[in-house]
Amino acid sequence: MNISSDLRMTKIPLNRGAGHMPALGFGTLIPDAAVTITATRDALEAGFRHFDCAERYGNEREVGEALQAGLAAGRIAREDIFVTTKLWNTNHRPERVEPAFEASLDRLGLKYLDLYLMHTPFAFQPGDDQDPRDQNGKVLYDHDVTLPETWKAMESLVDHGKCRAIGLSDIGLNELKPLYESARIKPAAVQVEAHPYLPETELLEFCRENGVVFLAFAPLGHGMRPGPLEDPVISAIAARVRKTPAQVLLAWAVQRGTAFLTTPRTAARARENFDISSLPEDALDEINRIQTRQRLNPVVKSGVPGFIPKGRQT
Ligand SMILES: NC(=O)c1ccc[n+]([C@@H]2O[C@H](COP(=O)([O-])OP(=O)(O)OC[C@H]3O[C@@H](n4cnc5c(N)ncnc54)[C@H](OP(=O)(O)O)[C@@H]3O)[C@@H](O)[C@H]2O)c1
Repeated sequence: MNISSDLRMTKIPLNRGAGHMPALGFGTLIPDAAVTITATRDALEAGFRHFDCAERYGNEREVGEALQAGLAAGRIAREDIFVTTKLWNTNHRPERVEPAFEASLDRLGLKYLDLYLMHTPFAFQPGDDQDPRDQNGKVLYDHDVTLPETWKAMESLVDHGKCRAIGLSDIGLNELKPLYESARIKPAAVQVEAHPYLPETELLEFCRENGVVFLAFAPLGHGMRPGPLEDPVISAIAARVRKTPAQVLLAWAVQRGTAFLTTPRTAARARENFDISSLPEDALDEINRIQTRQRLNPVVKSGVPGFIPKGRQT
């Protein structure tokens, strides 16, 4: 990967010649429909060209609307943006994959997707209820479908040409390796929680060696305080380089070879989170030496999202 001298322009190549992912990504996990529209518009205006969506976020329609309006207003071509969305856990059965994909595409108002991700490796009971539970509140898993079966159905989407690349989210190295070995179409990207408190170094190494894009969510530690945003090492570097702690964390993410997703909700924050520049080597080393370890999002353990507001169902 070539990290651009202007970090903001960094693009990471996808395997199989499937284009490039802009390293700076805007995530659309926003509970409010009106805020989804303004925040997506503001992100586009600030310079973001990579948009991360999911059927589970329940707002693909609003994101699509904002993107169509923004592209037209800014005279930006569809090819100049990179759009991802995700297959939800209740659609892992092979016969449900294409309909779920088409429904997302329709809600987004797009003709193709740059990347389609399996949202989590956990299959839930198929059906319209995105959060199926038994009477004791326990998640109802679907044990009649395997990860490779769902993956094969996703491979067919690439064959049919409406989806340029496929990948996985909330996956650990132990599950990724066997899938990578057996897959006809190798995963192009993995989306996982990553920040200085959870650097996921082994997974990143595997991705580097195999040409898989590592896409970090929670690069600001989901904004939690205390958290990476308030870490003394990050604050000291921010003061030294005259950037904000958020800009330091985001620059570190790009300079270590990952793409990231951030969710600024205001125009000022969108500009702040896009306006990153390279940190000196000694600052990168200091961040790499941070010893705190903390996973903030429990989704990898159960497939149940940690941060989706209750009542948001499509
Ligand atoms: N695959 C998965 O399971 C999964 C899970 C979670 C998220 N995601 C994706 O990742 C995206 C990013 O989500 P995230 O939570 O990781 O975003 P994030 O940008 O790392 O964190 C958002 C939080 O940081 C705060 N924040 C944003 N910019 C800031 C700044 N410049 N200074 C201080 N605080 C700032 C926000 O506060 P305000 O709200 O006050 O602005 C918010 O509380 C999501 O939208 C979604 O697309 C994927």
